[in-house]
Order: sequence, then C-alpha cells, then structure tokens
Amino acid sequence: MSEGGSYELMDELPPVPRLPGHVVLSADADEAIDAVGIDLVNQAKACVRGFGDFHLALSGGSTPMPLYERMMIDPAYRDMPWRRTHLWIVDERCVPFEHEKSNFGQIREILCDHSDIPPSQVHAIHAYEDDADIRYEAELREVLGWREKGHDRLDFVLLGMGDDGHTASLFPHSPALDVLDRFACFNRGPAVTPPDRVTMTYPLLNSARFIAALVVGRKKAEMIHRIAEGLGDAREIPIRGIEPIGGELRWYLDSASARWPGL
Ligand code: 6PG
Repeated sequence: MSEGGSYELMDELPPVPRLPGHVVLSADADEAIDAVGIDLVNQAKACVRGFGDFHLALSGGSTPMPLYERMMIDPAYRDMPWRRTHLWIVDERCVPFEHEKSNFGQIREILCDHSDIPPSQVHAIHAYEDDADIRYEAELREVLGWREKGHDRLDFVLLGMGDDGHTASLFPHSPALDVLDRFACFNRGPAVTPPDRVTMTYPLLNSARFIAALVVGRKKAEMIHRIAEGLGDAREIPIRGIEPIGGELRWYLDSASARWPGL
C-alpha cells in the first residue's frame, strides 16, 4: 500500500464536506483507494467469521479499477477471503461481456481470472438478455436466501458517482429511480447514458450492511458540494437516494473531489 500522507499533504487537506454518513478524506486518489480497500478486506474477514461467507457487489467505471488491480498484486490484500466471497455486479451495460464497456468483462479480467474465487460464486448480470433483470433478482434471492433471516443482504457495496450525481445505473430522472419493489431492473430511455443498463435498485442497495462511495477527482467536486449543501433531491442527484437501512454509508474522497474551487 502507499505510504501515509506526509505532514505537508495532510496540512493541505480541505475541510471535510458534510455528507450524509461518514466521510474518509485522503490526500490523493491513491490513499482513498487504500482506505476503501482496507475497509473492504476487514469487512470481508468479519463477515466470513460471522456468517461463513461474504457478499460483495462491485461497480464499474474508471475509479475503482486501480483498487481491483491492487487487490490482485499488493501483499496487503493477501488476507482477502476470496474462496468465501460471492461477487455481484452493481450495474451492467446491455452489451456482451467481451465488449469494452462491459463492467463484468473488465472485473473478470482484473479480478476473477487472478483470484481463487470459485466460478460458482461469481454472479454476472447477463444484461444483453431480455430477462436479465428477472434472472439476476432470482439469483440474488436464491443465493442470499441460504443465509439466516436478517443476514440475507449484501455485505459490502462499492459505489462510484458520476459528475451528474448518478450512482450504479441510477441516472437523474430515469425510470429505475421509481422501482422500489424489485432488486434489479433495466434502465433505459433518454435520461440514461447509452447503452441501456441493468442496475441494482435502491431497496437492494440500501439494505446492504456497508456502502462505500469512492469519489475522487476534481470533476466530482461540484456535485460533492451540492450534496453537502443539501441542494437537489434524489431525482436530480440519485446518489442522495442512498440511505442505508441499518447499515453504514462511508464516502472515500480525495482532496480534489472534496475541495470546492471557492475554498
Ligand atoms: C458504471 C458505474 C457508475 C460509475 C460512475 C462513476 O458502471 O459506470 O457503476 O455508476 O460508478 O459513472 O464512474 P467513474 O468512476 O468512471 O467516474
């Protein structure tokens, strides 16, 4: 893992934005990635101790890819209990896995092919099929249903945020925002950045034990500050609809995403 921030860097940290949940502010993206990675592994070990397995849901996008790579090569992650982990995908584009825009395609290449996670515990969304949402929901219910009641929820969800405030494939003013009786659904139409998507819904995401929002880079600063100021509702800024029920929401920011230009 990278070295902790120097005194100088720490000194330069902007004020911590007041976001709903807990905020972990790091000097740079590298440190933010380490911070979320450490929490992920600790959560994984605790869940394996407590329940025998760990249900992890990962997002696509460019931000978390260095974390996934680091988890494969950095000795600090060698304790990750991959053999007891179930890997889920937060959202998927309606393209084949071989397509460069497939989230699972990228995650498979970086993580699955290089960890000892059993293939039966890897749960891809076959978003190019017409019933992909129904199949994913059935798989989630079946696999999580093996757990004791009350523990049948995702243990760790890693989210990102677009500079328009979307998270997963929950885009501003898009139809999936209103789906409250399903775990997964298609999201299509003019409000959705093409291609069409399948996404986990608010009810599933919000029931997770731990939700990590990894948001780095200057392009995200304006939205982070809108959220901190309480401007806009979840229809306009979908990540505001992430409100864990009985779980924890933790934001991992770097100084670029946390520093509003006026500060
Ligand atoms: C995806 C994501 C999406 C992503 C944000 C941020 O599949 O693209 O699930 O919600 O997290 O768009 O993307 P970046 O990390 O590329 O900024």
